[in-house]
Amino acid sequence: MRSARVARECSYAPYSNYHVGAAVRTPDGEIFAGCNVENAAYPEGTCAEAGAIAAMVMAGHQTIVEVLVMGPVGTPCTPCGGCRQKLREFCADEVEVHVWDPEQHLLTTTVGELMPHAFGPQNLKKQSADSGGEP
Ligand code: THU
Repeated sequence: MRSARVARECSYAPYSNYHVGAAVRTPDGEIFAGCNVENAAYPEGTCAEAGAIAAMVMAGHQTIVEVLVMGPVGTPCTPCGGCRQKLREFCADEVEVHVWDPEQHLLTTTVGELMPHAFGPQNLKKQSADSGGEP
């Protein structure tokens, strides 16, 4: 929670003024955080979760065991659809996602609840092992 709060304070969100921080925890207890970084070309902006995931991968980790997202006061910043997919890449369905604002805990859900029947790495494993790339 502290890491997400600090990250949120770094957020660059001059267009939406919607500042977000996210933190992910790895199995060995390390925490990586990120903030949203908007862009004058709006679709080029990136979400806080994407920054946290990139920091984690850069440090050599590929498993997330807990997630926390902190948005503005009073608005539960549940991860957007793209971030749900990005999180699913590194999270089991049971991984908890805590949503906070700067003052309080708003809700806790799981990656599986946020993205049921997700397409993930498991969908590709059988294919590459069986067919060697045949369509
Ligand atoms: N945002 C995030 O950082 N994470 C989310 O999961 C939802 C949305 C950011 C993107 C944009 O900078 C701002 O919040 C408003 O959409």
